[in-house]
Amino acid sequence: MDGNGRWAKARGKPRTFGHSAGVEALRRTVEAAGDIKLPYLTVFGFSTENWGRPKEEVAALLELLRLYVGRDLHRLVRDGVKVRVIGEREGLEPDIRAIIERAEDQTAANATLNLTIAFNYGAQDEIVRAVRRIADDIAAGRLTPDDVCADTFAQRLDTACLPPLDLLIRTSGERRLSNFMLWQAAYAELVFLEDLWPDFGREPLERAINEFRRRDRRYGGVGRDE
Ligand code: IPE
Ligand code: MG
Repeated sequence: MDGNGRWAKARGKPRTFGHSAGVEALRRTVEAAGDIKLPYLTVFGFSTENWGRPKEEVAALLELLRLYVGRDLHRLVRDGVKVRVIGEREGLEPDIRAIIERAEDQTAANATLNLTIAFNYGAQDEIVRAVRRIADDIAAGRLTPDDVCADTFAQRLDTACLPPLDLLIRTSGERRLSNFMLWQAAYAELVFLEDLWPDFGREPLERAINEFRRRDRRYGGVGRDE
């Protein structure tokens, strides 16, 4: 969800104005995903690197999580959305953890759309935590080094409960992954859109999915017509 700051700047407003508009875009996108019956949608909300932003902006971003869950949780429950949060929970303030747990608990029985929010998430951090879990398992004798394969590893990532990543959309014209799902992106189709996140919603989502449909996914094999 990139481009909030630039969207606000273009309107002569503070960056936090863009973040608020970004929450509206998230609401529209979740609704659109439900309507088009996407089974899984994952959004990058706050990265392990975002703590480096000015104190006021970090506070505003944390406030938005509170606001989104506070205002939208009843809607998510009603619409059958199952919320999961991935990322490092350790070290988050207790009230933020409580909000995350409330969203997960109250939607746990839902099954229409799986909405995953990456919060305090960084792919390198996720990989390091997975490695640590494997090391713990080996040290405890639950695993031997020979048992370690791509699957053992994937099962210890935060995304263990998610299917393989098909489509990764980055908004705002940047062409990089910025520490998002580095392992999972191995065979994902990458779609880069010029749209700034606050302008996102049904139409850009459908545009990205149509682009995805035109891709020939080979997974290192040969093409469909070969
Ligand atoms: C939102 O956009 C990203 C989040 C941290 C939620 P940015 O704040 O990165 O906006 P730009 O890139 O400065 O335009
Ligand atoms: Mg940005």
